[in-house]
Amino acid sequence: MERRISGVRHMCTLTLLLVSVCPLCCRASWMWLGVTAAGVPEKLGCANLPLSPRQRELCRRKPFLLPSIQDGARLAISECQSQFRHERWNCSTTGQPTVFGYELTSGTKETAFIYAVMAAGLVHAVTRSCSQGNMTECGCDARLRGGGSAAEGWHWGGCSDHIQYGTWFSRKFIDNAVKNMSTSRGGYTLITMNQHNTEAGRQAIERTMSTDCRCHGVSGSCAVKTCWRTMAAFERVGVYLKERYERSVQVSDRSRKNTRRKEQRRLPVDKHQLIFFNKSPNYCLEDRRRGIAGTRGRRCNRTSTKPDGCNLLCCGRGYNTHVVRNVQRCECKFVWCCFVRCRRCESMNDMHTCK
Ligand SMILES: *[C@@H]1O[C@H](CO)[C@@H](O)[C@H](O)[C@H]1NC(C)=O
Ligand SMILES: *[C@@H]1O[C@H](CO)[C@@H](O)[C@H](O)[C@H]1NC(C)=O
Ligand SMILES: *[C@@H]1O[C@H](CO)[C@@H](O)[C@H](O)[C@H]1NC(C)=O
Ligand SMILES: *[C@@H]1O[C@H](CO)[C@@H](O)[C@H](O)[C@H]1NC(C)=O
Repeated sequence: MERRISGVRHMCTLTLLLVSVCPLCCRASWMWLGVTAAGVPEKLGCANLPLSPRQRELCRRKPFLLPSIQDGARLAISECQSQFRHERWNCSTTGQPTVFGYELTSGTKETAFIYAVMAAGLVHAVTRSCSQGNMTECGCDARLRGGGSAAEGWHWGGCSDHIQYGTWFSRKFIDNAVKNMSTSRGGYTLITMNQHNTEAGRQAIERTMSTDCRCHGVSGSCAVKTCWRTMAAFERVGVYLKERYERSVQVSDRSRKNTRRKEQRRLPVDKHQLIFFNKSPNYCLEDRRRGIAGTRGRRCNRTSTKPDGCNLLCCGRGYNTHVVRNVQRCECKFVWCCFVRCRRCESMNDMHTCK
């Protein structure tokens, strides 16, 4: 533990030194909470976490939110990995404070997805905690209470998820001092691009909310309904953002004067869209300098024509076939009394991995 703490301290000193050079590494490093074990952030305390000075201050003022911040980061990272498990870039993380390495600052679609999903995860986790009554600062959405439509036989009730607090916190925690986002005319900077995508991620929570109802009345007659607003399961948010990722919009990079701007969007982009300015690498080959793992050794599907197919995933390099033996319990029977007896069934399966 001692060593780990001093390691983090060292890293934070480094982080502080880098603030002026590269504010993004620091802003993003809260994501580290998502790859560290539960309870560790509380043990380290706000001062020793890889947070920006603003975030550290917020952490100090609202220490009760630390578990939710960690939950949000973990939720987002695992959803990112689930959405991309069949792709060449599979959202793998490092134990380093930058967590995503190259993709975090590359200004690509992958960067866009990371920022969006992380912000959404934070809103989701904080809101969940509010709804469960774990917080004194927030609870269920009371504004709806008492409303509804008597004529249509329903009214608001139960606990409607109150995303305003989570959204507010996610903005406060993630966005840095750059307040004004209407910068698209002259192109985006990496900071404003990330901010746009972060906000699009928060919007995804709102967009995927739905209304649930429960029926009351004599034996299921549903004469009266109680309804409440609820956030979608985070997998649904992940699917939504993955679709946004597929249709993300290329914008111009303000820092590059000579890019051929005509090809790129100059109009302000809808706030729900994800934006990026750099084309993604193909992620085929290992590139240590950029921290790209490449697809060698990845498991692929020989018959699939989708990204998980050996052709696409292995970038045409071909694949190796291994035979793997699977042992399972099968033909289980209940034996009087009282145990279950099973047979062992073996099967041989082909497994393919990229060359
Ligand atoms: C992603 O792929 C690499 C190999 O390229 C593999 O080592 C890693 O475990 C994968 N990560 C996830 C989260 O699937
Ligand atoms: C709320 O608090 C309970 C008890 O401390 C805990 O088990 C639960 O995980 C918390 N929920 C959230 C969303 O933080
Ligand atoms: C952002 O700046 C523009 C002009 O530069 C201004 O019209 C707009 O009101 C500002 N927006 C915010 C939210 O401050
Ligand atoms: C491989 O892809 C095919 C076609 O998409 C699918 O039917 C099959 O279940 C996949 N196999 C595995 C092991 O995922």
